[in-house]
Amino acid sequence: MREGIRPLKCRAKAPAKVILFGEHWVVHGGRALASAIGLYSSVYAEPLGEGLVVESRNLGVVEDVSKSCRVFCNLRRSFEYIADGVLWPARITVDSEIPVGAGLGSSAAVAVSASAAYACVGGLDVTPELVSNAAYESEKLVHGTPSGVDNTVSAFGGFLLYRRGEGFKAIRVGSLSDVTLLVIDTGVTRSTAKAVNLFTSRLKRLGSIGQDLLRLAESIVEEALHALRKGDAVRLGELMDVAHGLLNAMGVSHTELERAVHIARASGALGAKLTGAGMGGSAIALVEKERAATVAENLRRLGFQVYSGALGVQGVSVTVLE
Ligand code: PMV
Repeated sequence: MREGIRPLKCRAKAPAKVILFGEHWVVHGGRALASAIGLYSSVYAEPLGEGLVVESRNLGVVEDVSKSCRVFCNLRRSFEYIADGVLWPARITVDSEIPVGAGLGSSAAVAVSASAAYACVGGLDVTPELVSNAAYESEKLVHGTPSGVDNTVSAFGGFLLYRRGEGFKAIRVGSLSDVTLLVIDTGVTRSTAKAVNLFTSRLKRLGSIGQDLLRLAESIVEEALHALRKGDAVRLGELMDVAHGLLNAMGVSHTELERAVHIARASGALGAKLTGAGMGGSAIALVEKERAATVAENLRRLGFQVYSGALGVQGVSVTVLE
């Protein structure tokens, strides 16, 4: 807590992330392109006499993590990072619209927004670097050895390109204001580790063909960057279809994902693909705004949960309420 500062009431919000291109290939030296998407975790924080109380509206759980923790140990870890030693008292209320377990980085967005709100109550300068690092501490508890893409995208926003060992690069893009991204949750639970293993062993068995596919996946990312810079949504959609075809060929699709991308395309989406680990989880579809409601409705009728959000939205933001 900054010396001499009167504790503040603050609100913070942080977006979800989506991998647009390069998932799996990124594990084998390729690049991945991720974007912030307009689905948010919002956190309200206010000063408290004593204790550090976390309430999740979504989970219906309230816990004081000032001395010990059971449910929100990950967030406590982020708060310790922010406080750099002695935690200051506060009440933190989390309200997130990001579906859990759908590959959208909901835990990172919650950690980013909660860290930002907590830092703000303590009178600290809230920077994307600070809250991204704090959220990464939380992510390590939740996911073991995360790449860091979820907390980075949520904190900085926009579009990010990353390659293992090289870190993250922000991408400047043209306007994509005429399109929206639909996230189609299949409801099929999947294990990222299992999908990564399956993909990796097929890549090995394929030998030189696997290496050709890796190069192709790289060309798709390169082309996608051009399309993004030009604001060419039609080209981007086409590339999504091709990227999905490659991931399917590598064995990480699923009947429900195939159904989702097929219905989305048949309903007029510009393109659709699985996102993240695959074998379940979510698909994404790029859709012109005026068609979005029809495409979403057709998917919902078949039992899919559908969310929509703008691409490349701003990262974490904080408002001081008093
Ligand atoms: O489904 P997600 O958001 O956990 O993404 C997994 C992305 C992979 O490329 C399959 C794995 C990784 O660590 O990059």
